[in-house]
Amino acid sequence: MKSFTAAATTLAFAGNVAAFWRMPCRSTTGIARIDPLVSPNDIADHSHIVFGGGNFGMNTTYDDLAHCSGKEDCTTCNVKEDKSAYWTPPLYFQHEDGSVEMVPNVGGMLAYYLFYLDDLEPFPEGFAMIAGNPTYRNFTGDFPDEPLSSWPTDPTDQFFLQQRAIGFNCLNYAKNPPEASLYRHQFPPKDYMDANCKDGIRMEMAFPSCGNGELDSPDHRSHVKYPSLVKEGNCPEGYDHHYPFLFFETIYATNKFAGKPGKFLVSTGDPVGTSYHGDFIMGWDSAEFLGQAIKTCTNPSGQIEDCPVFTLQTDEQAAQCSFPMPSEVEGDDCQGPRDGLPVGVPIQYGPEPATAYKVPGDKNVPTSSLKQTSTPATFHIPTLTYSPADAASTATAQGGIVVAAESSAAAAVGYGKDAEHGAAQASTTAAPSYSSASKDSNAVSTTTITRGNEVIEMVIEETEVTVTAQPTAGSYSAPAPNAYKEKRHLEHHKHHHHARN
Ligand SMILES: *[C@@H]1O[C@H](CO)[C@@H](O)[C@H](O)[C@H]1NC(C)=O
Ligand SMILES: *[C@@H]1O[C@H](CO)[C@@H](O)[C@H](O)[C@H]1NC(C)=O
Repeated sequence: MKSFTAAATTLAFAGNVAAFWRMPCRSTTGIARIDPLVSPNDIADHSHIVFGGGNFGMNTTYDDLAHCSGKEDCTTCNVKEDKSAYWTPPLYFQHEDGSVEMVPNVGGMLAYYLFYLDDLEPFPEGFAMIAGNPTYRNFTGDFPDEPLSSWPTDPTDQFFLQQRAIGFNCLNYAKNPPEASLYRHQFPPKDYMDANCKDGIRMEMAFPSCGNGELDSPDHRSHVKYPSLVKEGNCPEGYDHHYPFLFFETIYATNKFAGKPGKFLVSTGDPVGTSYHGDFIMGWDSAEFLGQAIKTCTNPSGQIEDCPVFTLQTDEQAAQCSFPMPSEVEGDDCQGPRDGLPVGVPIQYGPEPATAYKVPGDKNVPTSSLKQTSTPATFHIPTLTYSPADAASTATAQGGIVVAAESSAAAAVGYGKDAEHGAAQASTTAAPSYSSASKDSNAVSTTTITRGNEVIEMVIEETEVTVTAQPTAGSYSAPAPNAYKEKRHLEHHKHHHHARN
């Protein structure tokens, strides 16, 4: 175990490079129309895929997760002290004939805890929050994003930030470098995915990390806000509690449907992608333990194996954990193939926000209004009997958030700078010292990806390429600090602009 002095030294360093850990939760505890935050003691209006603590149900609280006994005293994450609940809507594919099946999830979820803001506090006991909004059906910004240097330094427009907190990463492991995190904020077009996303889509959800000190709020959102650059930057006034930047990555094998006519849908009935969201109930043993971990787990590898305070368990052990399926939703067939989304969720295209609909099985809605299948329903009972995690799957479930800060080249055009508030945060620092490659003066950012037990570092180097912007690019104009990346943006933009509008 590290001595206190060693930890303190590392912490000082961590302010420069955003220390983090990557929590693998390789199995789901269950897939069901449950949402203890939004629909406590009730059936949720869309399905969720849930990871983490085993004592999850229709009315779960912090205590239920963290301090339960019996067989639900477990977690599908690899750190036993973390029985937090992490959940998102899963991804579905609707075939041309209307039938719907869940897109296979590859490798569970990675929940990142990244330490961007200063003076970090652990999530308190009883803390919960939601990022994103199931009713959203449009992305109103440019593609690719306006350069960070042009984003407002005062984060008053939280809708702007929330939209950019969602990512659909087109995975192609043969491509080097891989697509950056939080690059696309809605589904790529199906034909683009068929041609390019050979390894599926990584759905990404960034959570707000500035809090007002409350544990929760009536909408589960207004007690937290995004800092000015989503993952870092300035917190809005009154939101001066700094939490770890929580970031979910969940991979779906969309490539299974390459060449097949149909469309991808979020379980909310969303063919756009912008309704993607994530929910979190803090379920760590104690806030004190989490705080200790934040202080101690500063190894730049981000690997939980490198954190001495964690008690680890294997994927196989984690896979034995599941939540008890409430009888109200036991008959749902959340994986399909089935007729329509589970259960009775209408597809709403937007761009206007989605409206409420009747929830089959809910208090005043008879189950007879449950959308009928054209063939007799095959009731898939989603009880998770023990099965070892599929090594072939987990080996390809790569993580990808850009962990290192952008370079001084980026800082030169104002990235994350707010001199008045002295809040340049981690944004103006050099690449991390753990890689010899990233010490190179040309390295402007570093991405780590995980392949099984291997962490592979990708260093993006600055190249002196001048980008000549095309006329249809809208706001795209600033000289590129990272021309390589910008050049790729340009290519993608050209390919997609018309398809998206
Ligand atoms: C919460 O749900 C559990 C089982 O799902 C039930 O036993 C318990 O009574 C519920 N609690 C409340 C307060 O409704
Ligand atoms: C885009 O979505 C937001 C949030 O739902 C909504 O307020 C806005 O009206 C939508 N834009 C259009 C053009 O419908």
